[in-house]
Amino acid sequence: MPITVTWYGHACIGLEVGEHRLLVDPFLTGNPLAAAAPDQLDPTVVLVSHGHGDHVGDALDIARRTGALVISNFEITNWFQAQGHANVHPQHIGGGFHYPFGYLKLTIAHHGSALPDGSYGGNPCGFLLASEGKKVYLACDTGLFYDMKLVGEEGLDLAVLPIGDNFTMGPDDALRAVKLLQPHRAVPIHYDTFDVIRQDPHAWAERVRAETTTEPVVLKPGESLTL
Ligand code: NI
Ligand code: MN
Repeated sequence: MPITVTWYGHACIGLEVGEHRLLVDPFLTGNPLAAAAPDQLDPTVVLVSHGHGDHVGDALDIARRTGALVISNFEITNWFQAQGHANVHPQHIGGGFHYPFGYLKLTIAHHGSALPDGSYGGNPCGFLLASEGKKVYLACDTGLFYDMKLVGEEGLDLAVLPIGDNFTMGPDDALRAVKLLQPHRAVPIHYDTFDVIRQDPHAWAERVRAETTTEPVVLKPGESLTL
């Protein structure tokens, strides 16, 4: 069964695996590049990588409306429960769990995680999904770290990487990340949403093509690729 990966703008990614519709970091309201309105999306699972507003975004509203299972770190799932959304599954970095849609592991991310109301958001994370014989790594908001090499040892079909700089890896470090991860394909995200993270994804893609064997895939918000 194919996995369909859709970029909704900024760090919001949809992953469709058969009847399972995963939505990662749904920051749509207030996102000038959002490719969908929150009420247009009907996920069965919502993943939240960390507490910042450009990631938690519309997650609570969407989860309440759809009843979706919210997966995040323990502190953030507690926060969702405190807001009245009971359907959560807490994990933590290094831990994986077999869900009906695949095996999902939380990975290291070097970043912050306070929630918009100031609540403690635990440690930020990335996600590694193994499903349908494929592996997808979402680095989420992070700087470059050498342990990406360990993630790459899993054999990645796709890595989704921030390139915006300022808050996360910029183009130079995202290129180094590709070299550590060695995925078949790489999609750049987390750029252009705000002035301080303006980047040229095509220039980055050219460098990936020239210096690695990874195929860079530059999506426009709303576009998909199939694995
Ligand atoms: Ni952040
Ligand atoms: Mn962010």
